Amino acid sequence: MRITVIGATGTVGRIFLKLLEERNFPYSELNLCASSKSLGKSLSVNNKSYKIEPVSAELLRKTDITFISATTEISNEIGLLAQSCGSTVIDDSSAFRLKPNVPLVVPEINVDDLYNHQGIISIPNCTTTPLAMVLNALSKYQSINRVIVDTYQSVSGTGKSAINELHQQHSQLTSNQTISDPQIYPHQIAFNLIPQIDVFTKNDYTKEEEKIINETRKILHNSNLPISSTCVRVPVIISHSEAVHIEFNKEISTKKIRELLLNHRGISILDDTKTNSYPTPLQTEGTNDVYVGRIRKDVSHKNGIALWIVCDNLRKGAALNAIQIAEELIERNLVKYTP
Ligand SMILES: NC(=O)c1ccc[n+]([C@@H]2O[C@H](COP(=O)([O-])OP(=O)(O)OC[C@H]3O[C@@H](n4cnc5c(N)ncnc54)[C@H](OP(=O)(O)O)[C@@H]3O)[C@@H](O)[C@H]2O)c1
Repeated sequence: MRITVIGATGTVGRIFLKLLEERNFPYSELNLCASSKSLGKSLSVNNKSYKIEPVSAELLRKTDITFISATTEISNEIGLLAQSCGSTVIDDSSAFRLKPNVPLVVPEINVDDLYNHQGIISIPNCTTTPLAMVLNALSKYQSINRVIVDTYQSVSGTGKSAINELHQQHSQLTSNQTISDPQIYPHQIAFNLIPQIDVFTKNDYTKEEEKIINETRKILHNSNLPISSTCVRVPVIISHSEAVHIEFNKEISTKKIRELLLNHRGISILDDTKTNSYPTPLQTEGTNDVYVGRIRKDVSHKNGIALWIVCDNLRKGAALNAIQIAEELIERNLVKYTP
């Protein structure tokens, strides 16, 4: 496999390169690209140094799989160019996720959707993937009437500039300096919470909230799933958390919920009130699973369950899901798209 990574110097890109090593991914050639300001820099993968190169049609024509993890604008531009050059794209942005001819894939859920790809495959938003995995595990047993999800999203979800902003504000505040005007978020993020991720839409939800709603429906092949969300940015560096309320069409025991979650690939349970055990962002940073805890009956509804999900947004929320898709394409001989 000849691989090109667009956005190799980014927060997701660097984890992606680490995962290529960890998973012994079978590449024969590796090309790393980033913005013009990184040209000439080098990154090491499997003890070999790679120079950052400019993206070109020539490079994409000799690439089997192009991973894009840069910005939505770059995905729109380079994704279509790579597709036209015959390179299969695995894209991290929201550019193509809801397009009908683009599979939106979490391999543990809808790997068969890869059979219909037309040269571009999207990975979901970093909060969608863990929620969809949990709902997939539970909806196979009992149909779901309604989902309410409130997220607590770390700053790495916005990329390296947001991590720098949190560090800077934190050090200014702890050394009694005047805090600089926020550049990335609409308000100070250090020692604060911001109940707005991305811009507001016509119905007063945010784009991030709409992503989690629409992407979950697409992945689960359930376009009518009633789901609502409030997405909140929190001063945490890595891992997104989600408080979820699920209403089923019949009563379901917490014992059954645990059993279903444990039987689903990629989900682990950390849940013991006697030992104060539940997943936290710090605990899950650098791990690959989706962690669930605080599983309990919802006292406000007979058929309701409440639970808490935490997942490393840079791994299963982004880079790991992308690499797993590539592994599945290779295993099924689906890398090449023939129109
Ligand atoms: N962070 C997450 O949890 C997460 C989860 C799911 C999806 N995503 C998506 O993944 C993408 C990347 O996110 P990130 O957090 O890694 O952002 P980031 O840390 O800001 O990194 C952005 C990357 O894009 C590169 N880039 C910028 N302009 C470019 C250009 N003109 N040509 C080629 N490369 C260019 C940057 O290169 P330089 O270093 O040279 O500037 C850098 O490598 C976004 O679309 C984001 O929505 C992120």
